[in-house]
Amino acid sequence: MKIIGPDQVYFGVDDLNACRTFLTDYGLRENAPGYFEALDGTGCQILKRDDPSLPEALPTATLLRKTVYGCVDQNTVEEIAAELEKDREVKRLEDGSIEAKDDAGFVLGFQVTIRRDIKLVAERVNSPGAEPARLENDVAADPNGEALPRTLSHVVYFVPDVEKAEAFYVNRLKFVETDRFIQAGPFLRPGACRDHHTLFLIHTPPHMQGLEHIAFHMQGPTDLMLAGSRMVQKGYESFWGPGRHQLGSNWFWYFNSPLATHFEFDADMDLHDDNWVSRHVDLNAANSQLFLFENREKWSPGPPPEG
Ligand SMILES: [Fe+2]
Repeated sequence: MKIIGPDQVYFGVDDLNACRTFLTDYGLRENAPGYFEALDGTGCQILKRDDPSLPEALPTATLLRKTVYGCVDQNTVEEIAAELEKDREVKRLEDGSIEAKDDAGFVLGFQVTIRRDIKLVAERVNSPGAEPARLENDVAADPNGEALPRTLSHVVYFVPDVEKAEAFYVNRLKFVETDRFIQAGPFLRPGACRDHHTLFLIHTPPHMQGLEHIAFHMQGPTDLMLAGSRMVQKGYESFWGPGRHQLGSNWFWYFNSPLATHFEFDADMDLHDDNWVSRHVDLNAANSQLFLFENREKWSPGPPPEG
């Protein structure tokens, strides 16, 4: 099935203004009321918790209401509808998308992707022994660099029954397992995506079911560090990072948010194809990151000594 990955994530929130400020500071742009998008048009829709257009909420503290997957074409949307109609209700919405619940109770949408084709440069690094990526007088460190999220990367769900949730994505939607934390759950990528994961499932008690975090891809590690530093300077609380994961190799920096989930900046995730063999590793600190840093205030060695 030619599913690319999450296009849009819907939240029902209490404090629209706090969420609006957070999402703007995180680097998303409000291009329609309550819709905050990355450079390619993927993003987050926030509405008041009691907005009648939102699907029913889960009976937990999560503010997530719907995850909309982008598909390569309408044929894929129809293929998914035909598959899911075998055993559940599939709503057809006016915009051509469909809506159904997964086996954990999360509401999903499927649509022809709204991603815009963006042509941007990668982070350029000069490395001895290789051709320079930046030539003479092309300076890398720009304190005014925009450092904006480029595209929605992945969502991570807390689920009470990982096996059941995983079976739905693997058997029904043809997601592929790329790696697994044995005590937590699988990293999954859909059929039309090479990213290490667009979905990670974590086993938790039923009362915790919900969205653990959402991540957007940045240009590279430098933009990730710059964007994260700015969040700290604005007073947001770092949850984890900066660092670099082992599974997926993505650089990461997570922040607490008023959307009752963590927002992650990520960069430089591994790509995979069907030749990849999934690694099964224990969930522990050593396997959760290659390295981990903690932000500290900017510092200077000070002015030269007098005299
Ligand atoms: Fe993540």
